Amino acid sequence: MKPSSKLRIEQAPQRLQDLYEQAKLARSHSYSPYSGYAVGSAIRIHDGRTWSGCNVENASYGATVCAERVAIQKAASEVEGKLVIAEVMVVTDSNPPWSPCGMCRQVIAEFAQDTQVYTANLEGEYFALSFAELFPSAFDRTQIHLP
Ligand code: THU
Repeated sequence: MKPSSKLRIEQAPQRLQDLYEQAKLARSHSYSPYSGYAVGSAIRIHDGRTWSGCNVENASYGATVCAERVAIQKAASEVEGKLVIAEVMVVTDSNPPWSPCGMCRQVIAEFAQDTQVYTANLEGEYFALSFAELFPSAFDRTQIHLP
């Protein structure tokens, strides 16, 4: 699926509006004194449960963790068995909204299965696209041949 045209969050299905609100709330907790860019994310997993996260920056810039990875790592550390990410929402105060960075795409790929990605901003605009379209030919476990 190609990225959708611009959509309005108040016209989205309730479950997406809820994910948006969770990501927005997480964004308000952003620790971003260096870049000044607050990012919030929320994910919904296969069984319907949700987790959220914000970006957490560091004086050693490379130690910064993006909002999407915080949400995913919170989920991965609490879910028993295989984690499957159904939906990822990212909220920034940007127009157009920010898309997940390359490192976050790699981490999403580990747990992706028919995953949908939504990028939104505080004005309530959002775009929808499939993760497969966002990150084709991902390096994943099928390429690792264990001894
Ligand atoms: N950031 C995220 O949280 N998610 C992304 O996918 C892109 C970038 C954060 C990292 C850093 O704290 C700030 O945005 C500026 O790059």
